[in-house]
Amino acid sequence: MAQAISINEDLLCPEAIDDPYTYFGRLRELDPVHWNPLWQGWIVTRYKDVVAVLLDATRFSSDRMAYLDAHASAEKRRALEAYFAMLSRWLVFIDPPDHTRLRLLLQRASFTPKQLAAWRPRVQSIVDELLERIEPGKVVDFVQAFAFPLPVLVVSEILGFPAEDREQVRQWTTDVALPFFLALGVESREKWARAERAAKEFGAYARDLIRARKKQPRDDLLTAMVQAEHRGDFLNEDEVVANTVLLMIAGHETTSNLLANGLLAFIRHPEQIEVAAPGPEPARPGSGRVPALRSAGDGHGALGQAGPGAGRAADPCRRQAAAGAGRGQPRSAAVCRARPL
Ligand code: HEM
Repeated sequence: MAQAISINEDLLCPEAIDDPYTYFGRLRELDPVHWNPLWQGWIVTRYKDVVAVLLDATRFSSDRMAYLDAHASAEKRRALEAYFAMLSRWLVFIDPPDHTRLRLLLQRASFTPKQLAAWRPRVQSIVDELLERIEPGKVVDFVQAFAFPLPVLVVSEILGFPAEDREQVRQWTTDVALPFFLALGVESREKWARAERAAKEFGAYARDLIRARKKQPRDDLLTAMVQAEHRGDFLNEDEVVANTVLLMIAGHETTSNLLANGLLAFIRHPEQIEVAAPGPEPARPGSGRVPALRSAGDGHGALGQAGPGAGRAADPCRRQAAAGAGRGQPRSAAVCRARPL
């Protein structure tokens, strides 16, 4: 199945970032189940294969950290000790039954449609504040002025980080995400050092806040995570710390990319502005009013791991990734580690 084809294997190369449709389209044409030696993983680009990988409960595992831990050099393991320890507790990198347990507890804490709807007015006012800072008629960098700060501000506020810490949180979030895709051949020691430092500092910061919430509960997500209970089971402190950091990162880069790529899509297809313009009802998938954002949406591929773990059909983000992949455009590619754990 693996073939030698002429393609830049670095998934973060300019061709893949600037025009992922052409890059992954070519890959799908030439070698739809492609072994990428640089990333040490199978790149799956056909819709039905992506869906199969994402939803297979027996053959694919999400436990990326176990694989990396087993294959990292001693130097790397030392350099990223706190980082590995934190990421191995992230919801997105664990398999059932641990995933099921953590997911249940986190669901108790947050993110029901009703809870999210209550945030709408506050999110709107953060959007308005950011837009007000942009001088009319002046050219601005949309990413710096809007797409990057918006999700950091919103997620920080939902979690309950004090407003004065948000710039620091934004820096930690960027640094922890640096070696996120952990492409074995394209990492640098400088990124490891920044990520390790950020994992330690962000972890210690979140731990202090969590301890404060235990003593003095507030109306925020940190408190809800500390208090979440299912049949006498609670999240432990390390789990709350790790998943606080995960929520910052998961909610950040993806949404920044969605906003920036969405704007670019509107610039390229101005007729879509009309279609997506606010109407009496909120735009919903399928209503025909969110096509440009949906097609520009995915910020990253989904990563799975071949091995004796379990897939997670119950994960809505995963279902979304599976549903979003393919349909004529390779919006989401699944990168599957091939080595059994
Ligand atoms: C455009 C926006 C977003 C996209 C494209 C996106 C995409 C994804 C994908 C593809 C996954 C599955 C990854 C995998 O299994 O390898 C995922 C998981 C996850 N996402 Fe999102 N996401 C977005 C926004 C968010 C936001 C705003 C949050 C929270 C603040 C979030 C939190 C999570 C969490 C916690 C998981 C892990 C779920 C689990 O394992 O049960 N995501 N996301």
